[in-house]
Amino acid sequence: MQTMYQQMSDTELANALADLKDQVAEVKARGLKLDMARGKPSPEQVGISRPMLDLLSSDSDLTDGGVDCSNYGCFEGIPSARKLAGEFLGVPPEQTIVLGSSSLNIMQDVIVHYWEKGVPGNTPWHKLESVKWLCPSPGYDRHFGLTQDLGIENIPVCMTETGPDMDEVERLVAADPSIKGMFCVPKYSNPTGCTYSDDTVRRLATMEAAPDFRIVWDNAYAVHDFGDEPDKLANIFDYAREAGNEDRILAVASTSKITFPGAGIAFFGSSPANVAEVANTLKVGLISANKLNQLMHTRFLPTLDAVREHMAKHAEFLRPRFACVEEKLTEGLAGTGCATWTHPHGGYFVSFDGPAGSAKRVGALCKELGVVLTPAGATWPGGNDPQDTNIRIAPSYPSVEDLAAALDVLVLAVKLVSAELAQEERA
Ligand SMILES: Cc1ncc(COP(=O)(O)O)c(C=O)c1O
Repeated sequence: MQTMYQQMSDTELANALADLKDQVAEVKARGLKLDMARGKPSPEQVGISRPMLDLLSSDSDLTDGGVDCSNYGCFEGIPSARKLAGEFLGVPPEQTIVLGSSSLNIMQDVIVHYWEKGVPGNTPWHKLESVKWLCPSPGYDRHFGLTQDLGIENIPVCMTETGPDMDEVERLVAADPSIKGMFCVPKYSNPTGCTYSDDTVRRLATMEAAPDFRIVWDNAYAVHDFGDEPDKLANIFDYAREAGNEDRILAVASTSKITFPGAGIAFFGSSPANVAEVANTLKVGLISANKLNQLMHTRFLPTLDAVREHMAKHAEFLRPRFACVEEKLTEGLAGTGCATWTHPHGGYFVSFDGPAGSAKRVGALCKELGVVLTPAGATWPGGNDPQDTNIRIAPSYPSVEDLAAALDVLVLAVKLVSAELAQEERA
């Protein structure tokens, strides 16, 4: 599709460019200092979880289902936390482990474990000549970093509105047994905000793959709805169990964006065999996780219903911010042919695409104008967005007022870069 600038006559384009450059000079003179890069809740939003901190004191009963949370023991997590973890991940409590504050940390531990020792009955991945990993893109840069750090070759697979391009995934995985895994953020994906369709979930669980192929099912945004109609995600374990592939699924989640980012509790869920094996490995280096934090969390959020009630409060903060993104982008760019963007019903991000070859330039121009964006390319493995189109918009942290100002700058930058690209094409 052509941009409006490509459709202009030479004179029209020259006039448009002059006008946009004037606007850029004006914005520059304002000396803005705005940040739209951080995928984290605003301080006021984090504040809604503060009452949790009052739930434990020196007088509190520190037991949970007969477990003394003030001492070593109960490695897999306290009963109430494992029950909650099971509800989050779609497995029975016995098929969960509740650990420290970070799900990313669990993902790393498990991948490094298979790297060093291999999936039971299979060659350790580090001994293989080549290990590859599928990375639905645009995706989450920290996922890509986990495998890149080990020297695993990350292979991008395009994201669609229903999840990763499954024809491509099935074709690659069936043909190449050195593909050992794949990252998935199945609900309100980072950054597109899409939720995998039932068909995508079923195909992932049942497709032909190497016996030690693993899917990191990172359900980081499992309950993070802010739209009127929450997306529904099928339970991948139901499909996987039926196909005899339950070992394939390594599910994780955390309360990072429910209570306190970096100070929540994190969940792992998988087949009974995987849970036992992963627990045995992790036990080598951990006597028990912080059970007092687990207790505080489950006293605050004892059931999934309580979690949902709490998430409705988060939604009050997020809804106006996402509405602001939609409004500003529509107002500034709808019908220009210069951009497309996603319209999520939950999660933390909007994925924005400009014309080919625009994203890095837009990022640099925004920076010059005082607006920090997630670095262009970050949503692709190795920072290499092949078309250089994608920008991740993270609207949760700034105030609505600052966000509106930052989006005006983004719109202006996209227009100027699009006009410049149109002119360069003619030169
Ligand atoms: C998809 C995804 N997974 C994991 C994380 C990090 O989770 P944690 O704080 O539990 O390590 C994030 C944070 O932005 C995320 O977007």
